[in-house]
Amino acid sequence: MWNRPLAPGYFRMGLAAGKTFGRSRPGQFVMVRIVDSGPALLRRPFSIHRLLREKGRFAGVEILYRVVGSVTRRLCACSPGEKVDLLGPLGRGFAPPPSARTHDMVAGGIGVAPILFLAEYLLEKGCDASACRVFIGGRSRNDILCMEDFESMGYRVYITTDDGTCGEQCLVTEPLRGALAETPPDILYACGPEPMLQCTADMAAAHSVACQVSIETMMACGMGACLGCAVKGRRFPDKYLHACRDGPVFDASELVW
Ligand code: FES
Repeated sequence: MWNRPLAPGYFRMGLAAGKTFGRSRPGQFVMVRIVDSGPALLRRPFSIHRLLREKGRFAGVEILYRVVGSVTRRLCACSPGEKVDLLGPLGRGFAPPPSARTHDMVAGGIGVAPILFLAEYLLEKGCDASACRVFIGGRSRNDILCMEDFESMGYRVYITTDDGTCGEQCLVTEPLRGALAETPPDILYACGPEPMLQCTADMAAAHSVACQVSIETMMACGMGACLGCAVKGRRFPDKYLHACRDGPVFDASELVW
């Protein structure tokens, strides 16, 4: 469908997709392969960033990606009409409890991709965005993505960067720490680098706030076959969980950090 730059090194791609993708939930992902890319470029996982609608009808999915290697370099050179093979929707997504009224979201870098989908989903479900907060952190101004999208939906947005070029100069967990102490939400959702997730999970536990995290791991098959995405779970210490099948969204208390 289309492929547009969002910020230096970041692109959004809209992909036409069949009806089954219309049932995707925030946090689920798709495996993407460019059809004429040859065997060298295998499928890669991408969080679903948004559902696309045309004239009120589901039309496809949008992904957000950072150009980091051969696959994403090839992706960013794609033009409309090129065939992209999609597998999905895969994995287990976020599960907002029906009773929750206040939802806080934390995104680190490209981890904002599923968080925007979640924010749109919550709004559709009738959530009051003005009672919910979004914390976005990145290395620099260029890595702060989708801020305007959250603001235009009415969410309260807090920005941090490592170098101070946008928002507060600190880790994204700093403003979150204050916010949790002052007015803990009913539930917290997070996606980003592991140290950020771990810190978020610890703070949520300290304030007895429910917390769901979407973890970022290497995934080769996306369907539980290659065992490359194993993570340690708490419930069965001698068994591994698979991020692609059991996750990528987990209740933070399910994981061994
Ligand atoms: Fe292959 Fe999870 S990616 S088992």
